[in-house]
Amino acid sequence: MYRLAMHPLPDSLGTMQRVLILNGPNLNLLGRREPEVYGSMTLAELEASCARWGGELGIEVSTFQSNHEGALIDTLHSSEVDGIVFNPGAFTHYSYALHDAIAAISPPTVEVHLSNVKQREAWRRTSVVSDACVYSIYGRGAEGYRAALRHLHHRSESPPTTIAYGTDPDHVGDLRIPQGAGPHRVAVLIHGGFWRDHWTRDLMDGAAADLVSHGFATWNIEYRRVGNGGGWPATLEDVGHAIDHLSEIAPQHDLDLDDVTVIGHSAGGHLAHWAAGRQSLPEGAPGSSPRVVSSRTIGLAPVFDLAAAHERNLGDGAVESFLRRGPGDQRYSLASPHHLQPLAGEQHIVHGSGDEAVPIELSLDSGIPVVVLEGVDHFALIDPSHQAWAAVVDLLD
Ligand code: DQA
Repeated sequence: MYRLAMHPLPDSLGTMQRVLILNGPNLNLLGRREPEVYGSMTLAELEASCARWGGELGIEVSTFQSNHEGALIDTLHSSEVDGIVFNPGAFTHYSYALHDAIAAISPPTVEVHLSNVKQREAWRRTSVVSDACVYSIYGRGAEGYRAALRHLHHRSESPPTTIAYGTDPDHVGDLRIPQGAGPHRVAVLIHGGFWRDHWTRDLMDGAAADLVSHGFATWNIEYRRVGNGGGWPATLEDVGHAIDHLSEIAPQHDLDLDDVTVIGHSAGGHLAHWAAGRQSLPEGAPGSSPRVVSSRTIGLAPVFDLAAAHERNLGDGAVESFLRRGPGDQRYSLASPHHLQPLAGEQHIVHGSGDEAVPIELSLDSGIPVVVLEGVDHFALIDPSHQAWAAVVDLLD
């Protein structure tokens, strides 16, 4: 089945004005096809949602679905768009022809999968198209398409340079440099998602792009997560290495390492405050002996106390999956900022009283000054279009 539909908008903003939503084989059956894996939304509903989400970003969305590899290749070749969101279905796992088609064209392409392909059959864990794509999102259902549109939008608004700080595909960070002469103040961004693999650094794209406009160089880091080789100790080691890598790239990019703010959201807030306690860790503990020490830490709805978070079963057992140990184990004291004293530099927390993912009590019990935002929810804190974000920027000025 070939379908091509346009959803025009009156006026588009920014340089990411037209995006093609491209879906591959069997996705025409969405809604009826294994709904326990792919959800109950039909393709038509998904495409209508994408048109709406695009509209919110000033993006005009066009859509195409085919079960035929050649038709997908022809569409990639002839697409006159600024970006592409592509779910290649099962072709993902073996179509070098699609890889080459994506590599051959200029619009940036984001790979999207509804299901968590990394947690299913072994053959689904391989993607032969990822290399040709600027970013990959999986396991977030239809919301993954929305995240892909946002990623394309922020990428065009403020283009990042992705830099490797290690050998794993997740050992990367996105560096953005503000206009004007250095040395530049630095903001390290650490995304959340209960340390689980399907949540990645695009969560912090909007915050990063906004901070660049406020004159910060931003370093939006990725790290291995539970489900892709992370958890104790790899997640902690990666975050330490990613922050320390600033000392390698500082000279080239004129970064001021005496003015480094680490901003983490949710589980990333845990990692941000933990990073401020790295110099208090015993030698040999994951993340010990830091080379870059931050001057300021801002936790946005952080999971500050891992034992308390475990007790409240936050993220449905997320702490135990992360540490692979029950409470009382030494890992809690080495990984929880609650136990690490002193924490280096200024510590701040911003938390909304309407947060249902990480209750504000965790922050109120932290001993750190908390900016309480009445009625604000979990994700508003990293949304630059929400007034809650202004409270975060205030702390930086
Ligand atoms: C999929 C995952 C693929 O492995 C599968 O073949 C699909 C859909 C997803 O969206 O989760 O058809 O791309």
